[in-house]
Amino acid sequence: MKYTVTVFGLGFVGLTTALAFAEMGNKVYGIDINIEKTNTIKSGKLPFVEPGLDTALQKHINQNFFVSDSVEECVTDSDFIFLCVGTPCGKDGEADLTYINNAIDAFAGVLNDGKYRVVVVKSTVPPSTTAERIIPYLSNKGLEVGSNFSIANNPEFLREGYCWEDMMNADRIVCGVSDEKAKDMLYSLYKDCNIPIFAVNLNTGEFIKYLSNTLLATLISYSNEMSRIADVIGDVQIADAFNILHLDKRWGNCNMTSYVYPGCGYGGYCLPKDTVAMVAKSLAKGYEPKILKNVIEINNDMPSFMANKITSITSKNQTIGILGLAFKPGSDDVRDSSSAKIIKILLEEGYTNIIAYDPIANHPFDKEYKLQEVKYFQDLDSLCKESDVLALITAWDEFKDINIRYANKPIVDCRYFLRSGEECHF
Ligand SMILES: NC(=O)c1ccc[n+]([C@@H]2O[C@H](COP(=O)([O-])OP(=O)(O)OC[C@H]3O[C@@H](n4cnc5c(N)ncnc54)[C@H](O)[C@@H]3O)[C@@H](O)[C@H]2O)c1
Repeated sequence: MKYTVTVFGLGFVGLTTALAFAEMGNKVYGIDINIEKTNTIKSGKLPFVEPGLDTALQKHINQNFFVSDSVEECVTDSDFIFLCVGTPCGKDGEADLTYINNAIDAFAGVLNDGKYRVVVVKSTVPPSTTAERIIPYLSNKGLEVGSNFSIANNPEFLREGYCWEDMMNADRIVCGVSDEKAKDMLYSLYKDCNIPIFAVNLNTGEFIKYLSNTLLATLISYSNEMSRIADVIGDVQIADAFNILHLDKRWGNCNMTSYVYPGCGYGGYCLPKDTVAMVAKSLAKGYEPKILKNVIEINNDMPSFMANKITSITSKNQTIGILGLAFKPGSDDVRDSSSAKIIKILLEEGYTNIIAYDPIANHPFDKEYKLQEVKYFQDLDSLCKESDVLALITAWDEFKDINIRYANKPIVDCRYFLRSGEECHF
């Protein structure tokens, strides 16, 4: 065994992180407060859909990855403590650190036992959070960085749907560190993975993550704004226009084109809350960000823009078929999904005959949003036959030819995903 690592939070990031360290030959403990989740993982099953992660879990569970209920036992044995708990949107848009603080409360008692450890914040936290909030929080408990432990942040850049692949073949590993000891220990932990690793100071480590997410959000809102302009001008083949834009050699096959494409707004767990948190942090520090405020405003407008497109061709007694509930294809994550936002607007406006189908997210969506008016279908064709109007909200491949198969059915393509016969082909 190389190192012993305890990971707090076994969601998309934490479980992937834990299994990656196990795959690298370390001994890893996983802790989560959600008993349903830990029982599922203990039985060798994933609590969500993530290709490749299931195989890794089966390989390592109870071999060198142990899901434990005893924080004291795990942390006592560990060289690293990774915090991968959620950091949701809190008061005034700032990141809510409750879960981080609760995790610290759980292991604080062990930190002064004489064994040197690195506490690593992998959760996404706005720049200056480790220095200005987490270190003082530890200090208030009599735990001084540098005495028995170092602190670091190690932001995660994985994409849901590709968690395992992105973790094992990351483009870069970023470590914001409090001191040389943290840098040395993290370099040593990651030394065999053959991924470029960069040690920077604490604020820079956090800033790099927000640089990434706010840029992605900006590209999406830029694309959505251009699609709104095209819409008011009229007679613009929006999908073709963007696909032709992507042929520019200056993009250099950088694989970013899915972000430079219109749709019904970004969703999911990260871009919405991280963009809002960055604005809140900047305002708190005395600078009003102009681009980011508009990025958020454009995004907030997109669900009602798309809902209007749907209601403009539907009467209230007709049935609307929602295609896709996950926040993006390839995932069953429904957090901040555009489908939920659009369905809620439709319901508020009195369009109550709503049926929905998603290849993998029907159940998570129902569990999360509990929208009693919505009926869920188990297959695409039954939904299409039952609907008067279709709204494509998640761009699953399965929906690609729906306009050809149901040529007489009105469809609102909220993702500019379907090709019409008149448009050009590539
Ligand atoms: N999901 C992504 O694509 C992604 C990508 C990069 C970074 N991030 C960031 O990583 C962090 C985690 O995101 P996620 O999507 O994995 O969240 P998640 O909701 O899937 O998982 C978080 C887990 O933490 C657990 N938890 C909460 N408090 C705890 C405590 N005190 N002790 C132990 N477990 C606790 C929860 O029960 C939950 O299972 C967030 O800060 C997020 O912004 C997420």
